[in-house]
Amino acid sequence: MAQTRIAVIVGSLRKESHNQKLALALAHLAPSDFTFEHLRIDDLPLYNQDDDGNQASAVKRLKSEIAAAQGLLFVTPEYNRSIPGVLKNAIDHASRPYGQNAWGGKPAGVVGISVGAIGTALAQQHLRNILAYLDVPTLGAPEVFLQTKDDLFDDKGHIGNEGSKKFLQGWMDKYVAWIKSHSA
Ligand SMILES: Cc1cc2nc3c(=O)[nH]c(=O)nc-3n(C[C@H](O)[C@H](O)[C@H](O)COP(=O)(O)O)c2cc1C
Repeated sequence: MAQTRIAVIVGSLRKESHNQKLALALAHLAPSDFTFEHLRIDDLPLYNQDDDGNQASAVKRLKSEIAAAQGLLFVTPEYNRSIPGVLKNAIDHASRPYGQNAWGGKPAGVVGISVGAIGTALAQQHLRNILAYLDVPTLGAPEVFLQTKDDLFDDKGHIGNEGSKKFLQGWMDKYVAWIKSHSA
């Protein structure tokens, strides 16, 4: 069976990141012909336009991993009502040099979880704005604004709460159809 490869970009570098856990749990809700590859962004240098002609090997790796994927999944916390700097740094790197935007045309899902009640809504709105400029079509609905709860993940790292599982399965089903509609 042909595999659909999804590049996963998590906006938190924290070891116990809720967003990292969410990204891993979501993969369990996907069909077996979808594979999820987590892209490393913690070893990227700070973006500097002077380096556009000589991008670091970590940047080249990031861009080739994006190029090899049929779809993108952004899973991000909200930092000070926007996306974390590490995520913006990765996005900027792979968007350059001008005319060689690795993100362009790749369909994407945007989800996130935070301790706050608005569940990353503002960060996601900022991210959608950036992605629109980079020619990345994003699945519009349903939106996934999750707030951390003790029973969200079970001890195997799957979604443990039945209500959340049903909701996220519905999201995953739409996401899968959305990615397939772009690769058809
Ligand atoms: C620098 C910083 C800014 C934050 N700003 C927000 C915010 O604007 N909204 C929010 O809901 N949570 C905010 N938080 C709390 C995060 O939701 C919380 O740290 C969350 O666990 C981060 O995601 P992670 O578990 O994937 O690392 C902030 C945390 C940090 C460290």
